[in-house]
Amino acid sequence: MASAPFLLSFLLICSAFSLHFSNANFVLPVVKDTIKSQYYTSLLVGNHPSTRVYLVIDLGNQWSWFACDLYGYNTTSHELPCDSPKCELYAPGTFCSAGSCGVDAYTPWSRGLYSNGLLEDTTRVYKQTKQNSLAQVLSKADLPNFPFTCANKGPLKGLSPHTKGVVTLARVLVSLHSQISSTFKVPRKFALCLPSSTSSGYNGAIYFGGSPDYLSKSLITTPLVINPNSTSPIYSPGDASVEYFIKVRSIKVDGTPIRFSPSLLSFDIKEGVGGTKISTMDPYTVLHSEIYKTLVNVFVTKATAMKMTRVASVAPFGVCFSSKSVVNNAKTGPTVPIIDIIMDGKSPLLHNKNARWRIYGANSMVKVSDSVMCLGFVDGGLEPVTSIVIGGKQMEDNLVEIDLETSKLGVTSSLLRMGTNCSKFKGI
Ligand SMILES: *[C@@H]1O[C@H](CO)[C@@H](O)[C@H](O)[C@H]1NC(C)=O
Ligand SMILES: *[C@@H]1O[C@H](CO)[C@@H](O)[C@H](O)[C@H]1NC(C)=O
Ligand SMILES: *[C@@H]1O[C@H](CO)[C@@H](O)[C@H](O)[C@H]1NC(C)=O
Repeated sequence: MASAPFLLSFLLICSAFSLHFSNANFVLPVVKDTIKSQYYTSLLVGNHPSTRVYLVIDLGNQWSWFACDLYGYNTTSHELPCDSPKCELYAPGTFCSAGSCGVDAYTPWSRGLYSNGLLEDTTRVYKQTKQNSLAQVLSKADLPNFPFTCANKGPLKGLSPHTKGVVTLARVLVSLHSQISSTFKVPRKFALCLPSSTSSGYNGAIYFGGSPDYLSKSLITTPLVINPNSTSPIYSPGDASVEYFIKVRSIKVDGTPIRFSPSLLSFDIKEGVGGTKISTMDPYTVLHSEIYKTLVNVFVTKATAMKMTRVASVAPFGVCFSSKSVVNNAKTGPTVPIIDIIMDGKSPLLHNKNARWRIYGANSMVKVSDSVMCLGFVDGGLEPVTSIVIGGKQMEDNLVEIDLETSKLGVTSSLLRMGTNCSKFKGI
């Protein structure tokens, strides 16, 4: 169970590193719950006294929330009245919950929603400042009006037991990144560095306002697109999705394009389905059955040619191999067929070819036991809301940047960043 020393050691070791940022920069540590495959951070909420809360990072939630009572959190916060301008801004046309701005706490696994009033309280993030030309120093910075709601135990079902809520990084005004950008006047961008394990001694990080220079130089970018149809459990007609979608053009395995109906890659506004998003709440990439089946077929053919031996599959995966039959590469992980997600946008880093999200063994293979590893993609059935959901495993140890100034998603090309980690923070 993560506790206070996690943040303390994060702070100390972080200050000892010299990171270079192009912009003023804010940062939070990220830890992986390896059992649940969820990624969480910690925030201090309130002033006298403050309460430390552990929250799962969600790119798709409409609200940040936690089980206030379980943390003994006393409302030093103020409730936003339902007729206040902020309520109208944050939750247009919402309901009134005992006179305050009504919002809902939920996770992707929730059967129901927990409705309560929207609160504001101070929370604390870490600010990276340049002291002289070189040294970077971490200091605490107060975010005075962080919006969230208090839930009961109900919506905790499915969340990492180390946490009691979620912090949202969705495309909404109440999200942590948008609060940081508007309060501290830093560029509207944030980047996730999800850690692959906790045992390595390295924490991951979320960078707000700008990514470290050494990583932003190797970002392959693609335009963010808006899904006109909401993907949230509750929405009003005409609401667009608050999640981050990109336009995928094709998927290749070791250079061979896989075949499936191209229409799955577009939005079908009649049905409100389709497209490609990124999600930290899905541990592995989830594909529409049609895409999944063809990916697996091509992958298995290529793997067999590489003398990889198939073994019985282990749920939720459909294809597994004997680890003994796979060579391990120190930098890119298990040597398996490379999966490329070809996206919209030309990349100067790739000689102006289409941007691609290159997935090596380190991000495609999941070790399920000492002798078995599986392809870390899962079958999403024939009627998923979103055709391709790029999950946590495929983002780990890469920097995934959401730049809302330029409306682009950037991902570090593994090849270009070989030998560097997206976070140098130690801790836990
Ligand atoms: C909340 O308030 C109660 C009663 O005033 C007090 O006993 C408790 O210590 C407070 N908890 C926190 C975390 O401040
Ligand atoms: C999807 O969004 C479009 C544009 O707002 C709308 O016309 C359409 O009815 C929506 N589809 C569904 C299934 O809600
Ligand atoms: C990167 O992090 C991994 C653990 O996630 C660690 O084993 C490795 O030594 C690190 N590499 C560098 C170059 O810092």
